[in-house]
Amino acid sequence: MTPTDERRVVLTTGANSGIGLATVVELARRGFRSVGTVRSPAKARRVAEAAGAAGVTVETALLDVTDAEACAAVVARFRPWGLVNNAGFSVTGALEDIDDDEARRALETMVLAPVRLARLALPSMRDAGGGRIVNISSIYGLTTTPLTGWYQGCKHALEGLSDALRAEVASAGVKVVLVEPGGFRTGIWQEAQDDVAGRQGSRFGPAYRRLATGTRLAQPVMGSPSQVARVVARALRSPMPRARYLVGYDARTGAVLERVVPTAVKDVVKDRLTRVVLGL
Ligand SMILES: NC(=O)c1ccc[n+]([C@@H]2O[C@H](COP(=O)([O-])OP(=O)(O)OC[C@H]3O[C@@H](n4cnc5c(N)ncnc54)[C@H](OP(=O)(O)O)[C@@H]3O)[C@@H](O)[C@H]2O)c1
Repeated sequence: MTPTDERRVVLTTGANSGIGLATVVELARRGFRSVGTVRSPAKARRVAEAAGAAGVTVETALLDVTDAEACAAVVARFRPWGLVNNAGFSVTGALEDIDDDEARRALETMVLAPVRLARLALPSMRDAGGGRIVNISSIYGLTTTPLTGWYQGCKHALEGLSDALRAEVASAGVKVVLVEPGGFRTGIWQEAQDDVAGRQGSRFGPAYRRLATGTRLAQPVMGSPSQVARVVARALRSPMPRARYLVGYDARTGAVLERVVPTAVKDVVKDRLTRVVLGL
């Protein structure tokens, strides 16, 4: 840790639970001035409690990332050296079941907002001679499976945008990093179950019930979000961070299979699994 690290502000969105909460605490522990955004005072208290229990201080700011004016105000207030675009949510459902409004909300939160926040933060990063933008993507930014198409579409978009941005800002000393977790035990999985439970009358009903059961059974073997937080901290502290960090065995295996298996073979396997596992 160099003396300047202690003054470096890192702004993390969606800081009151899961990966975001683990990240703001981990970054404070590593000596950053860690600021987390939340959507209510009660959620800010949750962050303060977690930080207090870890013996660190985390500042909070109220922000719904889909509110462009609020994004500008928060970035102007903190002028972050580092930005961790973490806010996101589950969009679980067949593409036939998801209307434009639901899709738009996903795109606004997980695609438009991260790029907007980066755009807003870049002038002060350029002035400071450098900075870091860490975008929390997913193994679903590289692979696809049925029944989460819009979520995967958002993460695929974030991957492409991050790669373009990395090239655009490299000469300014700003590093753009993608963190691609596999499955980690957070609130997003309960959201996924609530999503499918709410899709009453869908022709995919039986598949949703099987998916919900699979999700419930998988949660105990998933890793802790603190694993992802440590990778985010590593990307922020490294002078030469990688462009991508896959986190978890499932993510690493999925990425290799995605690269080496031809699409035609993947389609056959997915078709078989979809019929047998989801009953479609
Ligand atoms: N958990 C995994 O297995 C996994 C795997 C790959 C990628 N990820 C990604 O990791 C990130 C964090 O998810 P998580 O798993 O930690 O889930 P989580 O525990 O549900 O946390 C999601 C966070 O995002 C916030 N958020 C959602 N919409 C927002 C909005 N419009 N404005 C501001 N904040 C908003 C939530 O705030 P509220 O409490 O106010 O809703 C919450 O703080 C997401 O981008 C997700 O796609 C997760």
